[in-house]
Amino acid sequence: MATRDHHSRKSSSNSSLGSRLLLTLLCVASICLCFSLFRKDASSRPLTAYSAVLGESDSNCNYSNGRWIYDPTVRSPTRYDQTCKEIFKGWNCIASGKSNAIDIVKWRWKPYQCDLPLFDPLRFLNDFRDTNIGFIGDSLNRNMFVALFCNLKRVSVEVKKWRPVGADRGFTFLEYNLTIAYHRTNLLARYGRWAASNSGGMLESLGFKEGYRVDADIPEGTWAEALSFHDILIFNTGHWWWAPSKFDPVKSPMIFFEKGLPVIPPIPPDIGLDMVLRHMLSYVEKQVRANAILFFRTQSPRHFEGGDWDQGGSCSRSQPLLPQEVEKLFSIESNGTNVETRLVNKHLYKALEGSPFKVLDITHISEFRADAHPSTAGGKKHDDCMHWCLPGLTDTWNDLFIAHLNAIRFRN
Ligand SMILES: *[C@@H]1O[C@H](CO)[C@@H](O)[C@H](O)[C@H]1NC(C)=O
Ligand SMILES: *[C@@H]1O[C@H](CO)[C@@H](O)[C@H](O)[C@H]1NC(C)=O
Ligand SMILES: *[C@@H]1O[C@H](CO)[C@@H](O)[C@H](O)[C@H]1NC(C)=O
Repeated sequence: MATRDHHSRKSSSNSSLGSRLLLTLLCVASICLCFSLFRKDASSRPLTAYSAVLGESDSNCNYSNGRWIYDPTVRSPTRYDQTCKEIFKGWNCIASGKSNAIDIVKWRWKPYQCDLPLFDPLRFLNDFRDTNIGFIGDSLNRNMFVALFCNLKRVSVEVKKWRPVGADRGFTFLEYNLTIAYHRTNLLARYGRWAASNSGGMLESLGFKEGYRVDADIPEGTWAEALSFHDILIFNTGHWWWAPSKFDPVKSPMIFFEKGLPVIPPIPPDIGLDMVLRHMLSYVEKQVRANAILFFRTQSPRHFEGGDWDQGGSCSRSQPLLPQEVEKLFSIESNGTNVETRLVNKHLYKALEGSPFKVLDITHISEFRADAHPSTAGGKKHDDCMHWCLPGLTDTWNDLFIAHLNAIRFRN
């Protein structure tokens, strides 16, 4: 008090103007505060959680910015092992004797600004009781789905296996009434074989003989009805858009349709991807449950070196790549075998901008992990440098997914 008196006595008219200004500022600030409290109330956000959120939230940590650290003390496998029945044979690197299979999970991702803890399956089951979680996408989303299943199955054995709403496979953890399901779809949109008809048409007159008809505005049946069922959804698409062995640009091109009619002039796959994403995202936004949480996962990198999968390419590394090796393999400028990784992401980010989807960015952290694919242990004629060994990298994707989920849940 004395100090303040002292101050005010010394003050000139100049400083009384200053204090009036200060008062005005305080008023404005308190009005702002009231508004923000009101807004928090309106979204039923518990006030007590707010300050804690700032500490724990993902908003101030860039999970993608970090490095892989080798921890030889990890007793591996830490989470589940090769006995998890859901692991597809080609991904079960321990069972098939891949030389570094045990080492794969000794690498831990360390973001520079925070930690990414291994998610706790029991806490997850408890926190997400009565919840349905759908993975919608290609086999790489299945890889992530299986990793989540194996983690949960280890701590909760009462499981009902079934196929909810078009799913390829699904499991309900009965004690917690938590369901996870995988909906297989390569392009998100519906597609099928197309052949020229004798009666002719626009495409025939342009010289098209056969290919794949992709209905850009029609979701594939495997997931079209699933949106009213799931509370949390994780989408992906990408690998099939740069797959000339299936969608040969000459022998079996993708032919895009909209509103049941061919898009004329015909568009290449990368433009088609934009069109499909636009339609599919808007379909999801319209059909999804009111409080659903939406994720879109970014592209999973492949690590073919010395050629593509059908040209004898391989991935025989036993350690993650160094940052400069990552750039050499994946930079768009060097246009290497696996260049589609970052190209796909460009399309995804463009389509997702301003959408309610949360981007699950797994690309950069995965680019390092040339060591974590089944490689020759995949049991195919060619090396598998696309899918991931389980247990393995997609467990870390789930750590990231669940860290984001917890941050969202905590905020609400
Ligand atoms: C996060 O880190 C990654 C990898 O270093 C970087 O590419 C990306 O731009 C960063 N994101 C943000 C929002 O800063
Ligand atoms: C299980 O969860 C669903 C919501 O996903 C809910 O509708 C249903 O009533 C729950 N079942 C039981 C037995 O609690
Ligand atoms: C990238 O490489 C492929 C062949 O590997 C080639 O067909 C294509 O034209 C190249 N693209 C660019 C932009 O250089």
